[in-house]
Amino acid sequence: MKFFVDTADLNEIKDLASTGLLDGVTTNPSLVAQSGAKSFIGLIEDICKVVKGPVSAEVAATDYATMLKEGQRLAKIAKNVAVKVPLTPDGLKVCKVLSDGGTMVNVTLCFSAAQAILAAKAGATFISPFVGRLDDIGQDGMLLIRDIVEIYKQYPAFKTEVLVASVRHPVHLIESAKMGAHVATIPPKVIRQLYSHPLTDKGLATFVADWKKTGQTILDAA
Ligand code: E4P
Repeated sequence: MKFFVDTADLNEIKDLASTGLLDGVTTNPSLVAQSGAKSFIGLIEDICKVVKGPVSAEVAATDYATMLKEGQRLAKIAKNVAVKVPLTPDGLKVCKVLSDGGTMVNVTLCFSAAQAILAAKAGATFISPFVGRLDDIGQDGMLLIRDIVEIYKQYPAFKTEVLVASVRHPVHLIESAKMGAHVATIPPKVIRQLYSHPLTDKGLATFVADWKKTGQTILDAA
């Protein structure tokens, strides 16, 4: 399973990239606004220098002609840019044109299996179903992941990867992995939670204390 980080904070991205576990990045207009970056294009350029995998950069317009121009501009930044478009009729038209031309496209704001089928037919590289936002309105976001994974498996011609988005906690990730989702885009805070277990901390404290009792050091050993 690939791990993308869901942030536009360059320092966070650098820090997480140093773990060697990061396969890509997703940004969106809200995350860019939060980052305080003065130049969106400059920010994506910088992120693409740090992370070699797909970096999602979202168009700002909602009409076909402007979205297409914006997508083409974003795609020029670096080879690993995945242009992010909304799941609307115009967004999917842009997806088809860009993906036919060899650009990676991430179709975002997916909330139904029917939408995911359309995105696959439009040649999306990634479909982003938002699990946390479905949970927020009392629906089970994980059921959508299960449906999309199952549907895509029936059609080997669909090359679209399921990119689980709006991840709120480690259970979203574990359940997505059990269902065979290709990618999860995870906020930095949740990535850090993945490492944690109280028994790991407790066990390590015991090992450190017991090792001290031996009076030895590994590096000074003959
Ligand atoms: C996906 O690409 C989106 O940026 C993101 O996962 C949205 O998550 P949110 O619902 O926590 O804003």
